[in-house]
Amino acid sequence: MTTAGATGAFISFEGIDGSGKSTQARALAEGLRAAGHRVTLTREPGGAPGAEEIRRLLVSGAAERWSPETEILLFNAARRDHLERTIRPALGRGEIVITDRFVDSTRVYQGAARADLRALADALHDLVIAVEPDLTFVIDMDPGIALARGLARGTGEDRFEDLGLAFQTRLRAGFRDLAEANPARLRLIDGDRPAAAISAEIIAQTQDWLTRRPAS
Ligand code: ADP
Ligand code: TYD
Repeated sequence: MTTAGATGAFISFEGIDGSGKSTQARALAEGLRAAGHRVTLTREPGGAPGAEEIRRLLVSGAAERWSPETEILLFNAARRDHLERTIRPALGRGEIVITDRFVDSTRVYQGAARADLRALADALHDLVIAVEPDLTFVIDMDPGIALARGLARGTGEDRFEDLGLAFQTRLRAGFRDLAEANPARLRLIDGDRPAAAISAEIIAQTQDWLTRRPAS
Protein backbone atom coordinates (compact mmCIF):
# COMPACT_ATOMS: atom_id res chain seq x y z
CA MET A 1 0.00 0.00 0.00
CA THR A 2 1.10 3.58 -0.58
CA THR A 3 2.33 5.65 2.34
CA ALA A 4 -0.79 6.41 4.36
CA GLY A 5 -2.45 9.59 3.15
CA ALA A 6 0.49 10.54 0.91
CA THR A 7 -1.67 11.04 -2.18
CA GLY A 8 -5.37 11.70 -2.52
CA ALA A 9 -7.68 9.31 -4.31
CA PHE A 10 -11.30 9.64 -5.37
CA ILE A 11 -13.42 6.48 -5.09
CA SER A 12 -17.15 6.18 -5.82
CA PHE A 13 -19.82 3.58 -5.15
CA GLU A 14 -22.65 3.11 -7.61
CA GLY A 15 -25.59 0.80 -8.14
CA ILE A 16 -29.34 0.52 -7.92
CA ASP A 17 -31.34 1.64 -4.87
CA GLY A 18 -30.86 -0.66 -1.86
CA SER A 19 -27.91 -2.55 -3.38
CA GLY A 20 -25.69 -1.95 -0.34
CA LYS A 21 -23.62 1.05 -1.49
CA SER A 22 -23.79 2.90 1.82
CA THR A 23 -22.94 -0.24 3.77
CA GLN A 24 -19.94 -0.91 1.54
CA ALA A 25 -18.76 2.70 1.42
CA ARG A 26 -18.72 2.73 5.24
CA ALA A 27 -16.88 -0.59 5.41
CA LEU A 28 -14.22 0.60 2.95
CA ALA A 29 -13.74 3.85 4.89
CA GLU A 30 -13.26 1.86 8.11
CA GLY A 31 -10.89 -0.60 6.42
CA LEU A 32 -8.73 2.16 4.94
CA ARG A 33 -8.68 4.14 8.20
CA ALA A 34 -7.58 1.00 10.04
CA ALA A 35 -4.72 0.75 7.52
CA GLY A 36 -3.65 4.31 8.40
CA HIS A 37 -5.25 6.35 5.61
CA ARG A 38 -7.09 9.60 6.12
CA VAL A 39 -10.55 9.20 4.60
CA THR A 40 -13.48 11.50 3.90
CA LEU A 41 -16.71 9.53 3.52
CA THR A 42 -19.46 11.42 1.72
CA ARG A 43 -22.55 10.94 -0.42
CA GLU A 44 -24.72 12.26 -3.23
CA PRO A 45 -27.06 13.88 -3.62
CA GLY A 46 -25.68 15.83 -0.68
CA GLY A 47 -22.29 15.79 1.00
CA ALA A 48 -22.23 19.53 1.83
CA PRO A 49 -24.84 21.67 3.64
CA GLY A 50 -26.24 23.35 0.50
CA ALA A 51 -26.18 20.11 -1.48
CA GLU A 52 -28.08 18.36 1.33
CA GLU A 53 -30.81 21.02 1.00
CA ILE A 54 -31.04 20.27 -2.74
CA ARG A 55 -31.17 16.54 -1.84
CA ARG A 56 -34.42 17.06 0.05
CA LEU A 57 -36.01 18.46 -3.12
CA LEU A 58 -34.88 15.43 -5.12
CA VAL A 59 -35.57 12.38 -2.97
CA SER A 60 -39.04 13.12 -1.60
CA GLY A 61 -42.42 13.88 -3.13
CA ALA A 62 -44.22 12.45 -6.14
CA ALA A 63 -42.20 10.51 -8.71
CA GLU A 64 -43.17 12.93 -11.50
CA ARG A 65 -42.41 16.02 -9.41
CA TRP A 66 -39.42 16.91 -11.62
CA SER A 67 -38.79 16.18 -15.28
CA PRO A 68 -35.58 14.26 -16.05
CA GLU A 69 -34.08 17.45 -17.53
CA THR A 70 -34.79 19.42 -14.34
CA GLU A 71 -33.33 16.56 -12.30
CA ILE A 72 -30.08 16.71 -14.27
CA LEU A 73 -29.78 20.41 -13.45
CA LEU A 74 -30.55 19.89 -9.75
CA PHE A 75 -28.14 16.94 -9.40
CA ASN A 76 -25.40 19.00 -11.08
CA ALA A 77 -26.09 21.98 -8.82
CA ALA A 78 -25.80 19.71 -5.77
CA ARG A 79 -22.67 18.04 -7.22
CA ARG A 80 -20.94 21.35 -7.88
CA ASP A 81 -21.51 22.41 -4.26
CA HIS A 82 -20.30 18.98 -3.06
CA LEU A 83 -17.18 19.27 -5.24
CA GLU A 84 -16.34 22.81 -4.09
CA ARG A 85 -17.02 22.37 -0.38
CA THR A 86 -16.12 18.77 0.38
CA ILE A 87 -14.40 16.76 -2.36
CA ARG A 88 -11.75 19.20 -3.63
CA PRO A 89 -10.68 20.37 -0.16
CA ALA A 90 -10.30 16.76 1.06
CA LEU A 91 -8.31 15.72 -2.03
CA GLY A 92 -6.20 18.85 -1.54
CA ARG A 93 -5.36 17.62 1.96
CA GLY A 94 -4.19 14.31 0.42
CA GLU A 95 -7.15 12.30 1.76
CA ILE A 96 -8.96 9.40 0.16
CA VAL A 97 -12.48 10.56 -0.70
CA ILE A 98 -15.15 7.86 -0.81
CA THR A 99 -18.50 8.96 -2.17
CA ASP A 100 -21.76 7.03 -2.14
CA ARG A 101 -22.82 7.93 -5.75
CA PHE A 102 -21.39 10.49 -8.19
CA VAL A 103 -21.78 11.29 -11.90
CA ASP A 104 -22.38 7.69 -13.02
CA SER A 105 -25.73 7.84 -11.18
CA THR A 106 -26.75 10.79 -13.38
CA ARG A 107 -25.55 8.97 -16.49
CA VAL A 108 -27.66 5.93 -15.65
CA TYR A 109 -30.73 7.33 -13.81
CA GLN A 110 -31.35 10.46 -15.90
CA GLY A 111 -29.22 9.52 -18.93
CA ALA A 112 -30.56 6.02 -19.58
CA ALA A 113 -33.27 4.66 -17.26
CA ARG A 114 -35.55 7.64 -16.70
CA ALA A 115 -34.98 9.24 -20.11
CA ASP A 116 -32.59 9.02 -23.04
CA LEU A 117 -30.54 12.04 -21.95
CA ARG A 118 -27.00 10.72 -21.83
CA ALA A 119 -25.69 13.44 -24.17
CA LEU A 120 -27.14 16.20 -21.97
CA ALA A 121 -25.82 14.54 -18.80
CA ASP A 122 -22.30 14.24 -20.27
CA ALA A 123 -22.26 17.76 -21.76
CA LEU A 124 -23.34 19.39 -18.51
CA HIS A 125 -20.90 17.28 -16.51
CA ASP A 126 -18.02 18.32 -18.78
CA LEU A 127 -18.97 21.99 -18.39
CA VAL A 128 -19.61 22.29 -14.67
CA ILE A 129 -17.98 19.31 -12.92
CA ALA A 130 -15.28 17.84 -15.20
CA VAL A 131 -14.02 15.41 -12.57
CA GLU A 132 -14.25 11.61 -12.77
CA PRO A 133 -13.57 9.25 -9.87
CA ASP A 134 -10.27 7.36 -10.03
CA LEU A 135 -11.99 4.09 -9.12
CA THR A 136 -15.69 3.10 -9.04
CA PHE A 137 -17.34 0.05 -7.49
CA VAL A 138 -20.68 -0.83 -9.04
CA ILE A 139 -22.67 -3.07 -6.69
CA ASP A 140 -24.63 -5.35 -9.02
CA MET A 141 -27.56 -7.40 -7.76
CA ASP A 142 -31.10 -8.65 -8.25
CA PRO A 143 -33.37 -5.56 -8.47
CA GLY A 144 -36.27 -7.22 -6.64
CA ILE A 145 -34.15 -8.00 -3.57
CA ALA A 146 -32.49 -4.57 -3.61
CA LEU A 147 -35.83 -2.76 -3.91
CA ALA A 148 -37.29 -4.70 -0.97
CA ARG A 149 -34.22 -3.90 1.14
CA GLY A 150 -34.37 -0.22 0.22
CA LEU A 151 -38.08 0.21 0.95
CA ALA A 152 -37.76 -1.73 4.24
CA ARG A 153 -35.55 1.08 5.59
CA GLY A 154 -38.63 3.37 5.72
CA THR A 155 -36.61 6.57 5.27
CA GLY A 156 -39.33 8.42 3.32
CA GLU A 157 -36.68 9.15 0.66
CA ASP A 158 -38.29 6.80 -1.84
CA ARG A 159 -39.08 8.99 -4.81
CA PHE A 160 -36.92 6.87 -7.15
CA GLU A 161 -37.86 3.54 -5.52
CA ASP A 162 -41.49 4.50 -6.21
CA LEU A 163 -40.78 4.26 -9.96
CA GLY A 164 -40.95 0.47 -9.42
CA LEU A 165 -39.22 -2.79 -10.30
CA ALA A 166 -39.15 -2.23 -14.09
CA PHE A 167 -37.27 1.02 -13.47
CA GLN A 168 -34.75 -0.70 -11.14
CA THR A 169 -34.25 -3.40 -13.79
CA ARG A 170 -33.45 -0.73 -16.43
CA LEU A 171 -31.05 0.87 -13.95
CA ARG A 172 -29.21 -2.39 -13.38
CA ALA A 173 -28.76 -2.83 -17.15
CA GLY A 174 -27.56 0.78 -17.41
CA PHE A 175 -24.89 0.31 -14.72
CA ARG A 176 -23.75 -2.96 -16.30
CA ASP A 177 -23.42 -1.26 -19.71
CA LEU A 178 -21.44 1.59 -18.16
CA ALA A 179 -19.07 -0.86 -16.40
CA GLU A 180 -18.55 -2.78 -19.63
CA ALA A 181 -17.75 0.43 -21.52
CA ASN A 182 -15.25 1.69 -18.87
CA PRO A 183 -13.44 -1.37 -17.52
CA ALA A 184 -10.37 0.61 -16.43
CA ARG A 185 -12.37 2.65 -13.89
CA LEU A 186 -15.56 0.74 -13.06
CA ARG A 187 -15.54 -2.60 -11.27
CA LEU A 188 -18.67 -4.72 -11.11
CA ILE A 189 -19.11 -6.33 -7.67
CA ASP A 190 -21.60 -9.15 -6.95
CA GLY A 191 -23.91 -7.69 -4.28
CA ASP A 192 -25.98 -10.87 -3.75
CA ARG A 193 -23.67 -12.04 -0.91
CA PRO A 194 -23.26 -11.37 2.81
CA ALA A 195 -22.03 -7.81 3.42
CA ALA A 196 -18.76 -8.99 5.02
CA ALA A 197 -17.79 -11.06 1.97
CA ILE A 198 -18.44 -8.10 -0.33
CA SER A 199 -16.47 -5.68 1.81
CA ALA A 200 -13.49 -8.04 2.08
CA GLU A 201 -13.32 -8.16 -1.72
CA ILE A 202 -13.68 -4.39 -2.10
CA ILE A 203 -11.04 -3.58 0.53
CA ALA A 204 -8.60 -6.04 -1.08
CA GLN A 205 -9.22 -4.61 -4.56
CA THR A 206 -8.73 -1.05 -3.28
CA GLN A 207 -5.51 -1.86 -1.46
CA ASP A 208 -4.20 -3.57 -4.60
CA TRP A 209 -5.26 -0.57 -6.73
CA LEU A 210 -3.58 1.90 -4.34
CA THR A 211 -0.36 -0.07 -4.55
CA ARG A 212 -0.33 -0.33 -8.33
CA ARG A 213 -1.58 3.07 -9.41
CA PRO A 214 0.97 5.44 -10.90
CA ALA A 215 2.39 7.99 -8.45
CA SER A 216 0.68 11.39 -8.88
P1 ADP B 1 -27.86 1.57 -0.64
O1 ADP B 1 -26.96 2.60 -0.04
O2 ADP B 1 -27.34 0.98 -1.91
O3 ADP B 1 -29.27 2.05 -0.82
P2 ADP B 1 -27.70 0.23 1.95
O4 ADP B 1 -26.25 -0.01 2.22
O5 ADP B 1 -28.37 1.36 2.65
O6 ADP B 1 -27.94 0.35 0.37
O7 ADP B 1 -28.45 -1.15 2.24
C1 ADP B 1 -29.86 -1.26 2.10
C2 ADP B 1 -30.38 -2.19 3.22
O8 ADP B 1 -29.89 -3.51 2.99
C3 ADP B 1 -29.91 -1.80 4.61
O9 ADP B 1 -30.94 -2.08 5.52
C4 ADP B 1 -28.68 -2.68 4.85
O10 ADP B 1 -28.48 -2.96 6.22
C5 ADP B 1 -29.05 -3.95 4.08
N1 ADP B 1 -27.89 -4.61 3.45
C6 ADP B 1 -26.80 -4.02 2.92
N2 ADP B 1 -25.95 -4.94 2.42
C7 ADP B 1 -26.52 -6.14 2.60
C8 ADP B 1 -26.15 -7.50 2.25
N3 ADP B 1 -25.00 -7.78 1.60
N4 ADP B 1 -26.99 -8.48 2.58
C9 ADP B 1 -28.17 -8.20 3.21
N5 ADP B 1 -28.59 -6.97 3.56
C10 ADP B 1 -27.78 -5.93 3.25
P1 TYD C 1 -29.43 7.53 -2.44
O1 TYD C 1 -29.64 8.23 -1.16
O2 TYD C 1 -28.06 7.02 -2.74
O3 TYD C 1 -30.51 6.38 -2.58
P2 TYD C 1 -30.43 4.82 -2.21
O4 TYD C 1 -29.87 4.71 -0.82
O5 TYD C 1 -31.86 4.39 -2.31
O6 TYD C 1 -29.57 4.14 -3.21
O7 TYD C 1 -29.82 8.49 -3.66
C1 TYD C 1 -31.09 9.08 -3.72
C2 TYD C 1 -31.72 8.85 -5.07
O8 TYD C 1 -31.22 9.77 -6.04
C3 TYD C 1 -31.48 7.45 -5.63
O9 TYD C 1 -32.75 6.90 -5.96
C4 TYD C 1 -30.71 7.69 -6.89
C5 TYD C 1 -31.03 9.10 -7.28
N1 TYD C 1 -29.96 9.79 -8.04
C6 TYD C 1 -30.20 10.15 -9.38
O10 TYD C 1 -31.27 9.86 -9.93
N2 TYD C 1 -29.23 10.82 -10.06
C7 TYD C 1 -28.05 11.19 -9.48
O11 TYD C 1 -27.21 11.83 -10.13
C8 TYD C 1 -27.83 10.82 -8.10
C9 TYD C 1 -26.53 11.20 -7.43
C10 TYD C 1 -28.81 10.12 -7.42
